Amino acid sequence: MGKAVAALALQRGHGIHTVLDSSDNAGGRALTRERMVGCDVAIEFTRPDAVVSNLERLIDLGIPTVTGTTGWSDALPRIAALVKERRGGLLHAANFSVGVHLFLRAARELARSFSGRPEFNASIREEHHAAKLDTPSGTALLLQQRLGDSDGLRSFPITSVRAGSVPGTHTLTYEGPHETVSLSHVARDRQSFAEGALTAAEWLPGRTGVFTFEDLLFGEIV
Ligand SMILES: NC(=O)c1ccc[n+]([C@@H]2O[C@H](COP(=O)([O-])OP(=O)(O)OC[C@H]3O[C@@H](n4cnc5c(N)ncnc54)[C@H](OP(=O)(O)O)[C@@H]3O)[C@@H](O)[C@H]2O)c1
Repeated sequence: MGKAVAALALQRGHGIHTVLDSSDNAGGRALTRERMVGCDVAIEFTRPDAVVSNLERLIDLGIPTVTGTTGWSDALPRIAALVKERRGGLLHAANFSVGVHLFLRAARELARSFSGRPEFNASIREEHHAAKLDTPSGTALLLQQRLGDSDGLRSFPITSVRAGSVPGTHTLTYEGPHETVSLSHVARDRQSFAEGALTAAEWLPGRTGVFTFEDLLFGEIV
């Protein structure tokens, strides 16, 4: 993701201040005031075991930060408190594709339509490339939460598949005794994620608080 975002940033006329990887930034050690001076915004795509210390340091330095790393939601309340305390800016999203967020809205509508119909069973299936570290995907968990908000009487179990180089596929299925209804989002490559993250990085500076990509896209969740 870092490479995709960097390539797009240059195409859009931005300068790249610093690129860090695990060899120079273990434990967030490269995120010092000296090294980051002059940086307007940070875009963080790393790994579940690296993201939290990166966010702590970036917030401490007062650098608005966009992160797309998944698998750290347990630490979000602590990070959000730090952002508030330092009057910083953080935008986090498990998925930066516009299509996924429209899919989530359509899925909520579908859940409302199927509520009160126990003859249908609902399920979520997500597929990602074999190197993805967290399971289920952050997007599948978000979908599950939103569906639960729309139909609290039904469970939405998740099946995860890790195979090949699939960028990301999420499918909501309702199985009835004699029929199937399904709604899918298929990411064909990583470009939509990179575009969303960069748009977020253009939007965030000057704002204080903790935001999601939905705040940027829709203003509020409806
Ligand atoms: N929100 C979205 O739309 C979206 C889309 C795609 C992926 N993701 C998520 O974004 C994350 C990254 O995905 P990816 O596919 O780019 O993973 P990836 O190919 O494994 O790349 C992870 C990168 O993070 C670097 N890294 C690890 N520890 C670091 C540290 N402490 N400081 C700086 N860099 C560090 C790695 O450096 P080395 O190469 O040196 O190890 C590597 O370049 C995952 O959590 C994934 O689930 C989110």
